[in-house]
Order: sequence, then C-alpha cells, then structure tokens
Amino acid sequence: MKIGVIYFSKTGNTKAIAESMAKGLNLEATPLSAFAAFDEAYDMIFLGGAFYFGALNKELVAFIGRLDKEKIKNICVFSTNNSAKDACKELKSQVEQKGIHVIDEHFHADGHFLGMKKGHPNEEEKEQAAQFAQNVISLYFPPEPPKTEEGKTSEEKKDEKADSSPLTSAFI
Ligand SMILES: Cc1cc2nc3c(=O)[nH]c(=O)nc-3n(C[C@H](O)[C@H](O)[C@H](O)COP(=O)(O)O)c2cc1C
Repeated sequence: MKIGVIYFSKTGNTKAIAESMAKGLNLEATPLSAFAAFDEAYDMIFLGGAFYFGALNKELVAFIGRLDKEKIKNICVFSTNNSAKDACKELKSQVEQKGIHVIDEHFHADGHFLGMKKGHPNEEEKEQAAQFAQNVISLYFPPEPPKTEEGKTSEEKKDEKADSSPLTSAFI
C-alpha cells in the first residue's frame, strides 16, 4: 500500500499537523516545495493546506491542477485555520474537480496567527492528527486476517466447515 502526506505551510501550523500524521503512519511528510513526482500509484494521499488572504496558496492550487487521477486513488484533506473558515472544503472541491476521490473524513486544527490562537496546534491536536491518520488507513485498508497453516483465513475455514455440515447439505 502506498501512502503519502503532502502539505503546504507558510508559518508552520499545517507542517506540524502533517508531520504528526506522517509520524503516526511511520512516514515522512513532504512539503510541496520538496515534492518531485508521483513515482507510482498512491492508495491514499493526505493533502494539507490553509487559507492566506482568503484563498489557498497558488502553488498548492497549481499542484492540485497537475494531479493525475490515474496515479491517485484517494485523497484525504486536512488544514489548519485561524478563523472559522475551514480550508478543507475548498481543498476537497479543488481535488474533486480533477476527478479524484476525496474521502468524507477530513481533519482540521486551529493554527496560531498574529497573536491569536497562541500555542496551536498543540500537543493534543497533534496527537489527534496522528490518531486520525491511523484510523483513516485502518478504515479504508483494513488489515488482512491472519492465515492458518493451509493458507486460509479462519473465516474461510469456518465457511468450509459450514458447507460440509449435514445441516447445510439437507437444504441443498
Ligand atoms: C499571510 C497570511 C495570510 C492569512 N490570511 C488568512 C485569511 O485570509 N483567512 C483566514 O481565515 N486565515 C488567514 N490566515 C491564517 C492562516 O490560515 C492560519 O494561520 C494557518 O494555520 C496558517 O497555516 P500555516 O502555518 O501552515 O501556514 C493567514 C495567515 C497568513 C500567514
């Protein structure tokens, strides 16, 4: 499974959340400025941004414009915000215009700006971000149940037993 965490951040708030998510997934977060290319298809990209002067950053918008829907199966958006205006909705809308699936689950945290919301995102929000990312991956890519010695899952073995039971045969 291929997962990525990509973000744009001017003052570090979205970066802090991106890094927490990546840590929760045992990955490195990639700032947009360092992102090179999609070497292979991704199952899930966590994509983060924020509002500046009422809009998403231009480089981030251009990056979304270049996304290839053949290379990205799902995107999960996240943002940090200093006001009530949440950039997740705008991110989702821009990505969907590219025909790429954006999952319903999204994450946003407060971000400090000009002395407002000092200390945010805080440790609790960072921990929530890590947990959120893990939950998204477990939800969309649940782990395969362990196989038995014959290479079958316990569910498959149960089904086999049921198929050969006299009760099942009586109904056939
Ligand atoms: C230059 C600048 C302009 C901003 N303009 C807005 C804005 O128009 N509306 C808004 O809700 N927040 C605005 N903010 C607040 C940011 O969206 C918020 O602080 C966000 O967490 C910044 O993320 P970052 O630290 O990852 O860059 C602005 C912040 C900066 C630095």
